[in-house]
Amino acid sequence: MIRLEGLHKTYTSEGGVENHVLRGVDLAVADGELVALMGSSGSGKTTLLNVIGALDQSYRGRVVIAGQDLKGLGDKALSRFRNQTVGYIFQQFHLLPHLPVVDNVAMPRWFDGGAKRHDGDERAEVKRVLERVGLAHKLDARPGHLSGGEKQRVAIARALYAKPKILLCDEPTGALDSETSEVVLDLIARLNADEGLTVVVVTHDPYVASRCRRTVRIVDGQIVSDAAASAPAPPSDAGGAA
Ligand SMILES: Nc1ncnc2c1ncn2[C@@H]1O[C@H](COP(=O)(O)OP(=O)(O)OP(=O)(O)O)[C@@H](O)[C@H]1O
Ligand SMILES: [Mg+2]
Repeated sequence: MIRLEGLHKTYTSEGGVENHVLRGVDLAVADGELVALMGSSGSGKTTLLNVIGALDQSYRGRVVIAGQDLKGLGDKALSRFRNQTVGYIFQQFHLLPHLPVVDNVAMPRWFDGGAKRHDGDERAEVKRVLERVGLAHKLDARPGHLSGGEKQRVAIARALYAKPKILLCDEPTGALDSETSEVVLDLIARLNADEGLTVVVVTHDPYVASRCRRTVRIVDGQIVSDAAASAPAPPSDAGGAA
């Protein structure tokens, strides 16, 4: 599902100073895997997710996602890829506060060749996806009136709405307390196990990583270890996802 070969990424500042952030990353993630990506701040985790999600096209190396070599895609195919193949979840949810939940979930499709639909079909479809995250009753709520965990579940619903094959999660529990994190992690694990979504979770938290079946560690833009999970760590106390 995800294949990276000899991936290099360098940021160049306006002054011409180069920051070689990804330094020869090779990684293969099979269909239906649940993988944690761990590494200290600045090690290149978000940069790596951005390449996988085709948000960043200036890299060296080979990137094949869901059978598509990203270098070979034209603009149209790329935006289709971003909208339909991958779903994103962020630490800070990135919901629009002035729009009700229903519009927050449906919005990506408005920019993907559609427009807001008023026929009731859109509402019904959004409701179905909200049911999968346990929030069908929040259809008309504003994000400001939701808890952090609810906001993240809305963000997950928004990602699911496009029926992606891959879910890319950048510190999905980083802004949540440990109890709420557990709800979000359960949901992510269920989407992976029951619906076969391939999931990559960037995290600093060993407990979050222990909920994944494989952990890839990155140090200074290079993968230093890649291992199947051992026994799960105990929740909350050791987790400290706050
Ligand atoms: N748009 C950018 N332009 C220039 N440099 C960048 C850009 N984005 C990230 N960097 C640099 O690339 C390096 C890796 O950043 P990245 O965001 O991938 O780290 P990270 O592992 O996600 O860290 P964190 O855990 O803090 O989120 C850092 O040195 C950062 O300063
Ligand atoms: Mg990051």
